[in-house]
Amino acid sequence: MLWSASLCVVFLVPSLGVPVDRYSTKGQQKLLLISFDGFRWDYDRDVDTPNLDTMARDGVKASYVTPPFLTVTSPTHFTLLTGRYIENHGVIHNMWFDVNTGEKVPYYATQFKTEWWDNGTLPIWITAQRQGLRTGSLHFPGTQPRYQGESQTVKDVEPGFYNYKNETKWRQNVDKVMETWFGEMDLDFVSLYFGEPDGVGHKYGPDSPERREMVGQVDRTVGYIRSSAEHNGLADSLNIIITADHGMSNVYRNGLVKEITLSKIPGFSFGDVSFHLLDYGPAGMLLPKPGMLETVYKALKGAHPHLHVFKKEEIPERLHFANNNRILPIILFSDPGYVINGFFPVQFNAGEHGFDNVEMDMKPFFRAVGPAFQKNLEVGPFETVNIYPLMCHILGIMPESNDGHLDVTKHMLVSATEDRPQDFRRNVSVGLAAVGGCLVVVVAVLVSFHAFKKETNYRGSEGSVRPGSKEESPQTAL
Ligand SMILES: *[C@@H]1O[C@H](CO)[C@@H](O)[C@H](O)[C@H]1NC(C)=O
Ligand SMILES: *[C@@H]1O[C@H](CO)[C@@H](O)[C@H](O)[C@H]1NC(C)=O
Ligand SMILES: [Zn+2]
Repeated sequence: MLWSASLCVVFLVPSLGVPVDRYSTKGQQKLLLISFDGFRWDYDRDVDTPNLDTMARDGVKASYVTPPFLTVTSPTHFTLLTGRYIENHGVIHNMWFDVNTGEKVPYYATQFKTEWWDNGTLPIWITAQRQGLRTGSLHFPGTQPRYQGESQTVKDVEPGFYNYKNETKWRQNVDKVMETWFGEMDLDFVSLYFGEPDGVGHKYGPDSPERREMVGQVDRTVGYIRSSAEHNGLADSLNIIITADHGMSNVYRNGLVKEITLSKIPGFSFGDVSFHLLDYGPAGMLLPKPGMLETVYKALKGAHPHLHVFKKEEIPERLHFANNNRILPIILFSDPGYVINGFFPVQFNAGEHGFDNVEMDMKPFFRAVGPAFQKNLEVGPFETVNIYPLMCHILGIMPESNDGHLDVTKHMLVSATEDRPQDFRRNVSVGLAAVGGCLVVVVAVLVSFHAFKKETNYRGSEGSVRPGSKEESPQTAL
């Protein structure tokens, strides 16, 4: 009895240890996820970008990627971190709000509202840590809150009134991530965020010389990141994915277009609305007072040729922006060129995002390089929900349930790494099968021992232990 149990321990420890031996110590690949806020897919077309071009030759470039709707910063970044559409992860807006008190909290302060972010979906940092990896995040939206009480191994929350454009600061941040976090601390996964070219895109517009100049700064930073990876001995182990949350589109005003201002629409009254999110680019939401839904809806529907008005339940399914209690009963968005104003025009940005994600102006770029990726490969577009399962695969971790599929992106990977998590799972399965097998032996010994002693008709073994029953457990969403 005792000998067979200890035999199990002897067999089991090494067999469960296989994936750890193989991938955690020497072979484990690292991953750096970088977002350059508002970097539209085609921003490299009118600017000389030698470093992005080199990265494309050394790795993978997608023609563009499709973000989830609402195409704004915090919701789309949380999709990158979770692989879930916005209605499924719950971070449905840049602003925290409470329809009962009427309170609204702006973008930066919402970074500190834990209950807004921690709404049942775990970001990749926590999932990776629960599976033995170490993670960090620098300035990435969603970095600050704890999720189910857990935090990244190390984090650097963006300071208030941060100068988004300072290239010296950008390089210091890169140094911190490469030298200290990946180098000294040996982290496995880091997310890194830069607030440009979103800032210049809003202020001067996507076609401005200021935006082109900022793309030059992004390109220099990409070169700096890659040479920093080399200097820190990370070239063979570090994968780098560079993408963004959304694109940018020109806004027209000054008599060029008929502006959308809700207070001027006949039949619409703010008196019929108990809460609204307006004056926030091209998208808005309304909570009508009890019994006023039809009145508000009918007044707005068709009121302006470039204003789209939906009841929550009739919003096109492709937008995946309905199935969440936080989404208000009426959803509005405008066509490119237009923003939605409440009482009177208060928005003066030259560029905006938040439009329908089918608009080409809303599509971000996507680049990837490193030991997991093919070289000099250009691939077609895909939705950004698929980046999460790709990242989990590279890190060799089991993803949470999500809306992406590895099938969409796995052709970017070199075949050697394509099998890694499958190997990992097979090894786990082999380990589990070994556990089951050993238990069968133990139980069988126990049973025959009992049967011999008591001469009873004991039939416990087949019913209670089924070896290998977990061998083929399905993997959701890989
Ligand atoms: C998500 O947030 C809503 C309130 O906005 C709350 O009612 C709900 O319980 C939260 N769900 C989870 C799982 O945290
Ligand atoms: C940029 O950041 C560096 C390093 O923190 C600082 O010394 C410099 O004064 C900053 N420049 C501007 C224009 O803010
Ligand atoms: Zn923005």
